[in-house]
Amino acid sequence: MKITMLTNQKGPRISKYIYGQFAEHLGRGIYGGLWVGEDSSIPNKNGIRTDVVNALKAINVPVVRWPGGCFADEYHWKDGVGEASKRKTIVNTNWGGVTETNRFGTHEYFELCSQLACDTYINGNVGSGTVQEMQEWVEYMTMPGESPMASWRRKNGREDPWQVTFLGIGNENWGCGGNMRPEYYADLYRRYQTFVRKYGEQRISKIACGANSGNYQWTRVLMERAAHFMDGISLHYYTVPSGEWHDKGNATGFTEDEWKTTIKRAKRMDELISRHAKIMDQYDPEKKVGMIVDEWGSWYNVEKGTNPGFLFQQNTIRDAMVAAVTLTIFHQHADRVRMANIAQMVNVLQAMLLTEGDQMVKTPTYYVFDLYKAHQDGELIGTYSDPSSDTISYTASKKGETLTLSICNYDLSRTEKIALTQVGNAYHPLQGEYIAAETRDAHNTFDHPNVVIKKKFTGYKMQENTVTVIAPPMSVITLTFGK
Ligand code: AHR
Repeated sequence: MKITMLTNQKGPRISKYIYGQFAEHLGRGIYGGLWVGEDSSIPNKNGIRTDVVNALKAINVPVVRWPGGCFADEYHWKDGVGEASKRKTIVNTNWGGVTETNRFGTHEYFELCSQLACDTYINGNVGSGTVQEMQEWVEYMTMPGESPMASWRRKNGREDPWQVTFLGIGNENWGCGGNMRPEYYADLYRRYQTFVRKYGEQRISKIACGANSGNYQWTRVLMERAAHFMDGISLHYYTVPSGEWHDKGNATGFTEDEWKTTIKRAKRMDELISRHAKIMDQYDPEKKVGMIVDEWGSWYNVEKGTNPGFLFQQNTIRDAMVAAVTLTIFHQHADRVRMANIAQMVNVLQAMLLTEGDQMVKTPTYYVFDLYKAHQDGELIGTYSDPSSDTISYTASKKGETLTLSICNYDLSRTEKIALTQVGNAYHPLQGEYIAAETRDAHNTFDHPNVVIKKKFTGYKMQENTVTVIAPPMSVITLTFGK
């Protein structure tokens, strides 16, 4: 096939936040995965594991959404600040009915983000929380001057306010966040967001709870009634191979057909974004409101022998395909999609990293985020292919003098020979990196952590003005070009 890059065609900026992460109080996502405590024998800085932070820093995590998910609408932030030993112990009713110690709270979250050098996305509680509670949380986090909450923050050891970049006003309020009708939630949204006050110079971007996959009516009602009060509206969509929540399909040991349906379902993201965006355009033609896909990724049956409420699943080269295909779709809609947060960062669903005790392994999905990180804040450039392919996904962006092209070949067996041409300023390939696998459920384990890892890619050649790329089956490649 032939891919043409229109190197001078100026597209929208691909927000770095599209590469956002999500960490919920769910299973071993926080406890064990991120937080081990200061006294742990696992190397840590202020209780947060060093191996995990180092791995995440290497993929330039731009933002972490916290504390949920469904947990957010049951979370009462005051339980999670102050003297650790005195914090209230609660039941995590959404996720396994386990004890939540509140050991990881607001201060620990900001410590995590400071170690990752990333921005912050707090999800507030609308489902079971009060307006006052949310208002006071914002005051606690962001008030620079004197106030009851700012004094309490100082008493708890933090002098300066933190920066809250994004604030979600509830989560899945059509479901676990209160089973609300869109009309009712739209009114609640307007009310709660009113009391998200601006303290000092900080401007917090407010995110309304948006639709569950194809619920276009939710988006319509919210946009009609509350668009003026929001900076973003969310969208949640998960790739479930079977399409059935009671038996979603397994993370490993799946058939060729399951591979194909998984990719097909991942590609549905394009249709969902297009249709929700069309509705948003009616109420917000200037595209002031961002679409925030703050939950996405693959969702399989949990691994045998694990707590069903912990949503722990293996991660294979198939997940790498899901990630690459989805990130490419986000790029194509970068004019509207301003943030996306894969679910979830560590040990939950389509994770970047898996941990067990002091061990940690990087997943194939991690390597896609690594291969695609050069696109963060890049300018999308125009591309087209001939013939169009239903097994190759590709995306290109420009930043300064560097052009980055990423290609995913999600065919199970066919090597694709790609002739790459350029219209506009000519760039030369400088280097390539890739991941690939021999088997469709290839994955990394603690015993075999290097089955799918990033390697140097040499399967390209420049002749005259054409670059020939040989893309192996089940591979994701990034080529870097310079002038
Ligand atoms: O990511 C797991 C869960 O999926 C989240 O808590 C919830 O918002 C969604 O249903």
